Amino acid sequence: MPTPEFKRTLITAALPYANGPVHIGHLAGVYLPADIYVRYKRLKKEEVLFVCGSDEHGVPVTIRARKEGITVQEAVDKYDALIKKSFEGFGIGFDIYSRTSNQTHHETASAFFKKLYGEGKFLEQSNDQYYDEEAQQFLADRYIQGTCPNCGFESAYGDQCENCGSTLSPSELINPRSMLSGGRPVLKATKHWYLPLNEYETWLREWILEGHKEWKPNVYGQCKSWIEQGLQPRAVTRDLDWGVPVPVEGAEGKVLYVWFDAPIGYISATKDWAKRENKSWETWWKDSDTRLLHFIGKDNIVFHCIIFPTMLKAHGEYILPDNVPANEFLNLEGQKISTSRNWAVWLHEFLTDLPGREDALRYTLASCAPETKDNDFTWKEFQSRNNNELADIVGNFVNRALVLTHKYYEGKVPAAGELGDSENELISILKMAPGLVSENLENFRFRQALTEMMNVARAGNRYLAETEPWKRIKTDPGSVKTILNLSIQTCALLTRLMEPFLPFSAKKLQNMLPSFDVAWPNGSTADFIQSGSLLGTPEILFTKITDEEVATQLEKLEKSRLENALANYSAPPQKENIAFDDFGKMDIRVATITAAVSVPKTKKLLQLTLDTGIDTRTVVSGIAEYHKPEDIIGKQVLLLANLAPREIKGIQSQGMILMAQDADGKLVFVQPSEPVRSGSGVS
Ligand code: MF3
Ligand code: ZN
Repeated sequence: MPTPEFKRTLITAALPYANGPVHIGHLAGVYLPADIYVRYKRLKKEEVLFVCGSDEHGVPVTIRARKEGITVQEAVDKYDALIKKSFEGFGIGFDIYSRTSNQTHHETASAFFKKLYGEGKFLEQSNDQYYDEEAQQFLADRYIQGTCPNCGFESAYGDQCENCGSTLSPSELINPRSMLSGGRPVLKATKHWYLPLNEYETWLREWILEGHKEWKPNVYGQCKSWIEQGLQPRAVTRDLDWGVPVPVEGAEGKVLYVWFDAPIGYISATKDWAKRENKSWETWWKDSDTRLLHFIGKDNIVFHCIIFPTMLKAHGEYILPDNVPANEFLNLEGQKISTSRNWAVWLHEFLTDLPGREDALRYTLASCAPETKDNDFTWKEFQSRNNNELADIVGNFVNRALVLTHKYYEGKVPAAGELGDSENELISILKMAPGLVSENLENFRFRQALTEMMNVARAGNRYLAETEPWKRIKTDPGSVKTILNLSIQTCALLTRLMEPFLPFSAKKLQNMLPSFDVAWPNGSTADFIQSGSLLGTPEILFTKITDEEVATQLEKLEKSRLENALANYSAPPQKENIAFDDFGKMDIRVATITAAVSVPKTKKLLQLTLDTGIDTRTVVSGIAEYHKPEDIIGKQVLLLANLAPREIKGIQSQGMILMAQDADGKLVFVQPSEPVRSGSGVS
């Protein structure tokens, strides 16, 4: 529950890096839960402000720009626009979506640094760092490549080896080279400013470990382990030519570290909003009755729970976050989402591939949100959640309620008569539901809140199935009035409970119903719509997702997997030399497949019958994943005929078919380029 001393809530969602588009992992982990929360608060008429924007500094954006052969400004302009549009497409209702490259932000971040600098809150330290003499530039960790000391991979980065996954520092790289000039960088002293986190350790311990025991266990746990490992001073400046210049004399060529300026972006965004709306930004950042909430993914926890609060504390004028409901990660079809491997569902592509299915994705992502542990998104689940839950439960219920009311009462909501047990049961569900959804949302349990919303639709569906108004209309027409009145009330309640999760559909549903003024029901009544009011035309809320739609998306992923495998392919190294005689010992000949069947209880094996020109024999071959028995009959293949026979799964296999293996593991036949007689020798 919101602590009563708060009057308003400022909600921030992590500023996405403008170095690429956003994907479903971002949506599920950060922006969707934040949006659900904000929409709910708005329905409750609480004062909220929801700010976000693009994080346009840091090394990753400069690397992206180089890769695309455009300027950094062009790159951030491009991705900022794409990201903004993607969020709009999914109805993420920010009050402002700003950018850290704008003037407000540069001024705000600069002033923030200056204040801390002026008050002597930073440490100044010189350290040796790699420098590219040709490019005349210090090198960010990401701009140094070399051999990984752990696995020998030759293209490891200064901060990480992408081959073995180990975290590195540039000095550990063997044979470091600059990615700017290709030359060997030299070590050179450079001065930087550090935020002495260690000096705030006692305070952090008290503020988080004592004061915020209510934080989610995954968040609290990470903070605890950081604090207990002991905190070190952190550099808040970098040698880079892209970012907010360090506003200190003698700091030419240095900018604020992206993780120093980006969270200040929340403040700048609030200022941009305030200017636009002619409101005060300070109310939102300086009044202790404002509740500050940061929605983020788990990789951002330390920055939002330890570093940014320390910055705010050091600054002294600002409030601190009251909660940081961070989520874990979402996987895709069982694999980690990866931008570089293009293993992702990109939001802008979803919007063009599956228009009108935004709510279906919001629903699926809310159902499988990685709230307490990593979770998995699959296209099959997307289909079944949409078809079996949204269409069959919500859609079906709403449609029956509206269509029957049109059919029997010309669309005029009938008055309810006497209430029986089923009615009282339904009404008590309707009255309790808003409280249940609220309680779960207040505690950031989005999945459970969604279940409580769905339980209302389920109850409505069950009620219609039990009372069967289509049968009673002949025998007991009076009771049908009650049934349909209650069903319409249930639809009305649903428009509200659905809104945070399914804003597009809630709006559609509201348009089919007479309007009513309860914004978020308080449980005192389940009577929202007056009898006699006229319903609109029923529309289908959720159409089914076909197998083809799912197949298309799976093929798209399969294509990424393949392209990736090919891109990372390196041909196997050559084997040791052999004598010609050794080769001569091998009887390789052309054979023709005359029959093929799968080997029972195996996935990979086929039992082949071959005409070898000298006999007909059986060979067991591990090609079933790539070739169907019926497709390969009549094919000519190369057979190593004199390989000693082996028993495989109880079958005598006499020889081995020669196959070529492609980069992605696929096995393809090696054949004579034109048909030859079975038994022809190969040498
Ligand atoms: N750009 C960062 C990321 O995508 C998040 C920045 S959040 C902020 O991981 F607080 F710094 F804004
Ligand atoms: Zn390595």
